[in-house]
Amino acid sequence: MNNNQIQSKIKILTIVILQISYIVACKHNSVETPIYKSKNIPVEERVEDLLNRMTLEEKIGQLSQIYVVTADSFTLKEIREGKVSSLLNGLDTFYSPSTRNLFQKEAVENSRLGIPLIFGHDVVHGFRTIFPISLAQSCTWSPELHQESSRIAAREASTYGIDWTFAPMVEVSRDSRWGRVAECYGEDPYLNSIFGVAAVKGFQGNDVSQPYQVVSCLKHYVGYSVSEGGRDYQYTPIPERDMQEIYLKPFKSGIEAGALTVMSAFNDINGIPATSNELYLRKTLKEKWGFQGFVVSDWDAVVQLIDHGIAADTATAAMKAFSAGVDMEMKSLTYQNLKSMVEQGIVSIPMLNESVKRILRVKFLKGLFDNPYTDTLRMYNEILTAEHRSLSRRIARESMVLLKNDDGLLPLDDKNQELAIVGPFSNEKNLMGWWKSMGNANDLVSPLHGLKLNTKPGTIISEKISKNTDAIIVCLGETREMFGEYHSRSDISLPEHQLQLLKELQKHSKPIITVIFNGRPLDLTEVIKFSNSVLIAWHPGTEAGNALSDILYGNYNPSGKLTMSFPKSTGQVPIYYNHRNSGRPDQSNYIDLDAKPLFPFGYGMSYTTFVYSNLQLSSQVITIGDSLLVSANVANTGQLGGEEIVQLYIRDLVGSTTRPVKELKGFKKVFLNPGESKEIQFLIHSDDLVILNEDFNSINEPGDYYLWIAPTSEGGLKGEFKLTK
Ligand code: BGC
Repeated sequence: MNNNQIQSKIKILTIVILQISYIVACKHNSVETPIYKSKNIPVEERVEDLLNRMTLEEKIGQLSQIYVVTADSFTLKEIREGKVSSLLNGLDTFYSPSTRNLFQKEAVENSRLGIPLIFGHDVVHGFRTIFPISLAQSCTWSPELHQESSRIAAREASTYGIDWTFAPMVEVSRDSRWGRVAECYGEDPYLNSIFGVAAVKGFQGNDVSQPYQVVSCLKHYVGYSVSEGGRDYQYTPIPERDMQEIYLKPFKSGIEAGALTVMSAFNDINGIPATSNELYLRKTLKEKWGFQGFVVSDWDAVVQLIDHGIAADTATAAMKAFSAGVDMEMKSLTYQNLKSMVEQGIVSIPMLNESVKRILRVKFLKGLFDNPYTDTLRMYNEILTAEHRSLSRRIARESMVLLKNDDGLLPLDDKNQELAIVGPFSNEKNLMGWWKSMGNANDLVSPLHGLKLNTKPGTIISEKISKNTDAIIVCLGETREMFGEYHSRSDISLPEHQLQLLKELQKHSKPIITVIFNGRPLDLTEVIKFSNSVLIAWHPGTEAGNALSDILYGNYNPSGKLTMSFPKSTGQVPIYYNHRNSGRPDQSNYIDLDAKPLFPFGYGMSYTTFVYSNLQLSSQVITIGDSLLVSANVANTGQLGGEEIVQLYIRDLVGSTTRPVKELKGFKKVFLNPGESKEIQFLIHSDDLVILNEDFNSINEPGDYYLWIAPTSEGGLKGEFKLTK
């Protein structure tokens, strides 16, 4: 071999060596990329891989959600050390998307395993564009609209890097003294299920890993709305039958719809607080229903087990909540005790692993490992858009409920040239409800502003009543501070000074339109007496005044119907349409009052009239496993087009256990032009008639039923059928 040959051999050898070392390096690298960081590997494998790499401290860190306001060095250090799994709330400073990314960077780039944080926040009925409170949204009887408002709330919240909302609240609520009824979908389990599912779908979408969706959280599990006397956080004695037939139902539907998290409640259920209630958390939610996501406690609820009197110290509180099935602790820090408990064998490693896996699973599904940072620029053109505001306006006007309208006073027409708008809420901008998130009162159209903005040519809107005034619009109601968490009321009538004002207005001898901005059903007995028209506007959100003007000027014909009964007096509550009959139904009155509400569930007026006729049943008999088609004609016999919410109720007459006097089984919202009539059909399947028998088995019991196709829970067209084997 000459020199040249030797040189070229060396060259070839060098290339081969380099190639081999490149291949080895590549192989080596791919071994080094942990499975949990590889995008295309199934979530469960990634979870398992990560879990196997975690120390005991890191596992316990995943169970902790802390409340932060600023990115202080202590918090950043805790995140770096893997002691924090999730951050919640905080003030505006925290909710800048770049601060959020700063926290996230600490977790993803500077902690040992790079496990991302999940950011939670209460996005209940909007983020910056605020929609009507949830109770109001249920009065639209349009789950489609609610899904859409939840989708937009998610989209706006996600621009701030929020991955997870503590909503929807699906607690069937029947006591309007309780301030939190504003957050739910009313007194009916079926309606709460349907609206809860709509919210879950809107928040999470088809693919929750998309950057504009958020993880939803069904809350508060379970029975919190039963708080004695309507006082918040109080004892909740709940018979197992009510628990299963009423309170658990919407949660089960939400889980079936794919909700990834559940929040345990503050209340004490029959002597075992919800936070440490193994029966409902571990046994029912996780084992019986197969829920695969995770449970977060409510705010400080774990440490509050000490106040409940079932734990003497923080260690026992942690042990009880954790063993019962609370995977993540919100705010209080008792889970730090779990380390020594695991070491002592008091808490088992498999149980710890299971909780960690649940939390990691949700983080993987949300896409946080693959896409941990939020785009800081989206907030500039994705919030408070014209499209979002317009949906908010639509939902607000569809949620308003007309309770009284003497002599067709509304809609205001050309005869009403001069309108006076008065009352404490006439120019109010804080009409965003309790959970207003980033909602800003400056964005809100007040009632006065809305009426002026949309006024008809030639109409004068004044804040003073004069001899030329044609009609008085008086805006009354509850401020945001009069309902919501820890804001129960012992008397749910309007404050005395508001009633006084309404009475004083009588001296002008003008027609009075009373608009109520409220967060709960109220006792409106006096208001009805002293008003010609009454409109329930709730806390309508950002587009309050525009939506109100749509209704008052007749650009929208009201269609909202109540989803909670309005009582005749506070003494009647809890009051709800789907009560049981009792042995002496005729003697359910008080000596000073009857037992009927002032306005029942399902009630709401329109500017037109709807007439129901021609009830038809495809058969008088349903066989188990079969269906029955029921239909009726609904005709618009008035002068204006409008939407009607047609409701289907049933009553199971005789069973092995007592049944409610009426149960909502379906509803349809239909638009009818003047003079138009439509056949409205419902299918009742025998599964819809399943009840819990004495042994708590879900079965079909053959027997007789009533059914109604009706405009409210009272009255309507009545039919009968039989269920047979
Ligand atoms: C409320 C929850 C809420 C949590 C976090 C608690 O006080 O009960 O509904 O999600 O705070 O803000």
